[in-house]
Amino acid sequence: MNLIFLGPPGAGKGTYASRLGIRLDIPHISTGDIFREEMKKQTELGKLAASYINKGNLVPDEVTIDIVKKRLSEPDCEKGFILDGFPRTIAQADGLEHAEIKIDHVFNFLVGEEVLIKRMSGRRTCKRCGAIYHIETLKPKTPGICDKCGSELVQREDEKPEIIKDRLRVYEEKTAPLIDYYRKRGLLIDTDGDRPIDVVVDELVSIIQ
Ligand code: AP5
Ligand code: MG
Repeated sequence: MNLIFLGPPGAGKGTYASRLGIRLDIPHISTGDIFREEMKKQTELGKLAASYINKGNLVPDEVTIDIVKKRLSEPDCEKGFILDGFPRTIAQADGLEHAEIKIDHVFNFLVGEEVLIKRMSGRRTCKRCGAIYHIETLKPKTPGICDKCGSELVQREDEKPEIIKDRLRVYEEKTAPLIDYYRKRGLLIDTDGDRPIDVVVDELVSIIQ
């Protein structure tokens, strides 16, 4: 099952994809997580990505398409994958088509702007394993500490209010056109992302099966 998760920043893509990936036993591939990992290691790619991400802009298409194509050629993707945050531009979606990577469904998560801002400003992410929490809606057992690996929870660099606004603007301009792109191809499934996490994930499982 080859899936794409589409939706604005803060819609819950990473939260839903990490849970669905476990349920379906397929890898959850987040381009944002890949870039953040490279940024942590301060590689050349990480430095390049940081210069875009920390301003709320998109990393250039050529760089991103190459990374995803390479990742999808790894053996664990043979039984399927969830792409979270890719494609994010028409050029990236064309890149997938040109590579003849077949997609079964594109889930488009619908969440209002006020909720998106609350979700992003209250999000906390594990420094080591990337697990996602929220200070109100998804609290860790011990404040500031990851339930899974015991590391510190931090706020992302791109979570400052002015950068959140830029990310939402970039989403409208560059990514929202993908809704029509995939609707025209008969792949789009609109999903209400403003419901309890387990309800959303159960619905995804029932649609897929
Ligand atoms: P990326 O990391 O992909 O960020 P994003 O798309 O902006 O989305 P987020 O990760 O902020 O939100 P999400 O939808 O995953 O929500 P989450 O599950 O965390 O990308 C970051 C940057 O990298 C981009 O800005 C860009 O610069 C670059 N980049 C990445 N991909 C790229 C590409 N393809 N091309 C070019 N550049 C690229 O949830 C948010 C919060 O809400 C959490 O705290 C969570 O606990 C909570 N929550 C989630 N669901 C619920 C719910 N149902 N109920 C209550 N709380 C919930
Ligand atoms: Mg995410």
